Amino acid sequence: MFLLVNLKTYRAGTGEDAVAVAEAARDVADETGARVAVAPQAADLRAVAETGVETFAQHVDGVEYGSNTGATHAGAVAGAGVTGTLLNHSERRLRLAEIDASLNAARDASLETVVCANNPAQSAAAAALGPDAVAVEPPELIGTGTPVSKADPDVITDTVGRVREVADVPVLCGAGITSGDDVEAARELGAEGVLVASGVVKAESPRDAMLDLVT
Ligand code: G3P
Repeated sequence: MFLLVNLKTYRAGTGEDAVAVAEAARDVADETGARVAVAPQAADLRAVAETGVETFAQHVDGVEYGSNTGATHAGAVAGAGVTGTLLNHSERRLRLAEIDASLNAARDASLETVVCANNPAQSAAAAALGPDAVAVEPPELIGTGTPVSKADPDVITDTVGRVREVADVPVLCGAGITSGDDVEAARELGAEGVLVASGVVKAESPRDAMLDLVT
């Protein structure tokens, strides 16, 4: 089970707070043997990677080195110690051609790729582009504390089925997940990992929250 903690731009995801969550995630991974990665905002990528935790970007652009003001270059991200990236999160939606270009840029930089999607049909389309994983997240459940694995279990089983028809790509899920029970439910539905944000960054103890999620 893969736990990917997306810090978004939560306050806990800025400056030293991002590092504190990253250190806790690293320790939880070391202590439990679970795979735990952290996706901070761009300004915190290097500091988070330096903690030794597995680090994902929240987005990279499909651009070459050169004249691209405001872009996030996959190679530069990899140079900061990052090993993977989210793409097409519902809060950072891309057009199909942009997803493809970002995927190619990420692959060129040897970054692992997780492409997000809103529903089973989009997940299957994302799988056809050949990412390392797809993550289905119904946007209406994000940040609610109502877990996709319980509120909308069909979206996970349908996604697993639709993706399998297209490619051998693992399915992750996210939205509203806050507890180990939610993760277990997701796993029983066929998800191989979860994306979690508010359940960790808003917790009194992010460390305890992550421990509960992976054990
Ligand atoms: O990327 C994970 C995310 O969108 C889920 O957010 O706050 O519902 O865990 P949250």
